[in-house]
Amino acid sequence: MSHHDERTFVMVKPDGVQRGLIGEVVSRFEDRGLKLVGGKFMQIDEDLAHDHYGEHEDKPFFDGLVEFITSGPVFAMVWEGADATRQVRAMVGETDPAESAPGTIRGDFGLDLGHNVIHASDHEDEGANEREIDLFFDEDELVDYGLDTAAWVYEDE
Ligand code: RTP
Ligand code: MG
Repeated sequence: MSHHDERTFVMVKPDGVQRGLIGEVVSRFEDRGLKLVGGKFMQIDEDLAHDHYGEHEDKPFFDGLVEFITSGPVFAMVWEGADATRQVRAMVGETDPAESAPGTIRGDFGLDLGHNVIHASDHEDEGANEREIDLFFDEDELVDYGLDTAAWVYEDE
């Protein structure tokens, strides 16, 4: 059962919230069989934006990225499941929505690199999922429970 409990951090960005896409995004992960273990509707301040996107500090788009991510509320989530980080990134699509395949979230709902609807932890960045979960959630905000459908999602649950 332990290989079903990988956790990843996902966030509907300000453009996705304004466009009414929270429900759509949540539905896709629910439909996939992933388990929601945390969710928070919140406003990101400048400090949190710098911590979250610190890896891009020296890039020319950094100031615009911080301005955008702090421009309105976001919906932060933690999803759990087998290979969750990599599977969620595949469902999100490429960084640029214009290069994202139809069927992915960015490929279905975005057209512009700067407004790409959703963030998800990078599976190629070791430990990014845990770091981002810690940054956005206290331990007691993550709910430990059993999902009754897991026995039907996983053959060996
Ligand atoms: P995210 O972290 O937001 O999930 O996106 P990502 O991993 O797919 O892409 P990343 O390389 O981490 O870039 C973070 C965000 O910065 C914006 N960006 N702009 N102008 C540019 O060249 C450029 N490159 C990246 C995007 O909004 C991207 O989501
Ligand atoms: Mg990234």
